[in-house]
Amino acid sequence: MESALDYWSAKALLEWQVELGATETLCEAPVNRYELAPPAPKAAESSKPGRAPPVPPKPKPVDPVAEARKQAKAAPELPSLRAALAGFRHCDLKMGARNLVFSDGQPGARVMVIGEAPGREEDQQGRPFVGPAGQMLDRMLAAIDLSRDKNVYLTNVLPWRPQQNRDPLPEEVAMMVPFLERHVGLAHPDFLVLMGNVSCQAVLGKTGISRLRGQWAQAWGKPVLPMFHPAYLLRQPGHKRAAWADLLELKARLGAVS
Ligand code: URA
Repeated sequence: MESALDYWSAKALLEWQVELGATETLCEAPVNRYELAPPAPKAAESSKPGRAPPVPPKPKPVDPVAEARKQAKAAPELPSLRAALAGFRHCDLKMGARNLVFSDGQPGARVMVIGEAPGREEDQQGRPFVGPAGQMLDRMLAAIDLSRDKNVYLTNVLPWRPQQNRDPLPEEVAMMVPFLERHVGLAHPDFLVLMGNVSCQAVLGKTGISRLRGQWAQAWGKPVLPMFHPAYLLRQPGHKRAAWADLLELKARLGAVS
């Protein structure tokens, strides 16, 4: 069927969508994911004419953080934790994401890296740190003989990409923390490396990466090293020297405790 739109109208419409924030085309026809929820139940057929229809009971408000705690605690191993996250219905980020991004690398490795959230490439592939920041991270790890193929495990605070790579909301982080803590418990690394402020907020409850970086802290029973996020280092290469010092610190600690 030939389009009824002329070239200039189609171009204007496309530009308008880009202005609204569209960054890519996913499929031919738009999908309103909010409409994919199951339809609301119909009013009871039995109500007699003249009588007020029965008032449906109010759904109990759900505390997403308590729900996350319950579900995370019930997961006995990493695959079931992944399944619990995949079925978690209280985080709207899931609606806009293509894939759940759970982890990569070697579960049980001594070093577990915690990033912020998937970006575009991670969302497409369902693996953390595979875009430009991930390539930077791989180079940083390789400089101290670490690699996701051998001896590092990677995850993010958020398993779904925030649209437009916007900053995660505090409530989104809060409801993912129980899953992250359980993730750490099940992967049982010796050391956690926190990339950037979002993971510092989630794990240490504080931000201020320029102050925190390079200083060992303790969380969830483990030594924790905050570092500049590789995406930040790509934008601010002048801070690579500090990141190198932090990598050497991690290497020394790995060598000292083996
Ligand atoms: N940045 C992150 O924090 N995590 C990723 O997986 C990719 C980019």
